[in-house]
Amino acid sequence: MKSAFARIPFAQYLLWQIGLRHVEALIWECNLAKEIPRIETKILVEIRKATVRDLRDHAHFGKPPLRRDKALKRLNNGDICFIALWKGLIIGYMWATLKRKVYIPELEREIAFKDEEGYLYDSFVFPDFRRKGLFKKMVEESLHHLKSQNVKRVKGITVTTNRASERVMRDTGFYAVRLAKFVRIFRFKRFEEHKLEALPQVA
Ligand SMILES: CC(C)(COP(=O)(O)OP(=O)(O)OC[C@H]1O[C@@H](n2cnc3c(N)ncnc32)[C@H](O)[C@@H]1OP(=O)(O)O)[C@@H](O)C(=O)NCCC(=O)NCCS
Repeated sequence: MKSAFARIPFAQYLLWQIGLRHVEALIWECNLAKEIPRIETKILVEIRKATVRDLRDHAHFGKPPLRRDKALKRLNNGDICFIALWKGLIIGYMWATLKRKVYIPELEREIAFKDEEGYLYDSFVFPDFRRKGLFKKMVEESLHHLKSQNVKRVKGITVTTNRASERVMRDTGFYAVRLAKFVRIFRFKRFEEHKLEALPQVA
């Protein structure tokens, strides 16, 4: 299961488990023909693509939020993991995929992508290292990498409660293009998607 979003609060998780869900999410798009903004981080970090060895050796992948077997499976399936390293430690990661269809668990549906489109998902920075520009820097590096692979457009999804992720998307050259709403009340499900007209959104 690919999670596009932040880890959800426990109370919300419980509601989801019993079949009650209300999610609003922004779908973001970045056109790689445009210049990719340059991000400065507050600490010196190395951002690079993770290897199988990184995922095997680093202790961070041996426990939640992302278990090693799941991370290795993603890598074996062709997804790319970008890692942020500080003094040799993995302090953050972010995933990218070029698949044409991706299941978004929070919206309980698949989202389709066109040829030459990439999708960023499942970003995580360890709490002690947040607000230092690491997520933004991983996005910047991933955009350069995807552009070098002839990807023309990159997408991302954020829940509307995740202000930090919205900020990262906006500051790295993304625009919110659609608003998705999903409601589940036990077996009743409703999904809506609206095109956002005026760009850019989000202050
Ligand atoms: C979301 C997350 C990846 C951000 O990582 P990060 O390295 O701290 O992000 P950055 O430092 O690159 O940028 C975050 C920006 O949001 C801002 N921000 C952080 N929390 C915020 C909040 N509650 N409201 C508004 N802005 C916020 C930061 O100040 C920063 O902006 P600035 O550089 O202009 O000051 C990290 O908080 C995290 O791992 N959260 C849990 C998992 C998650 O939510 N993943 C995202 C899935 S889409």
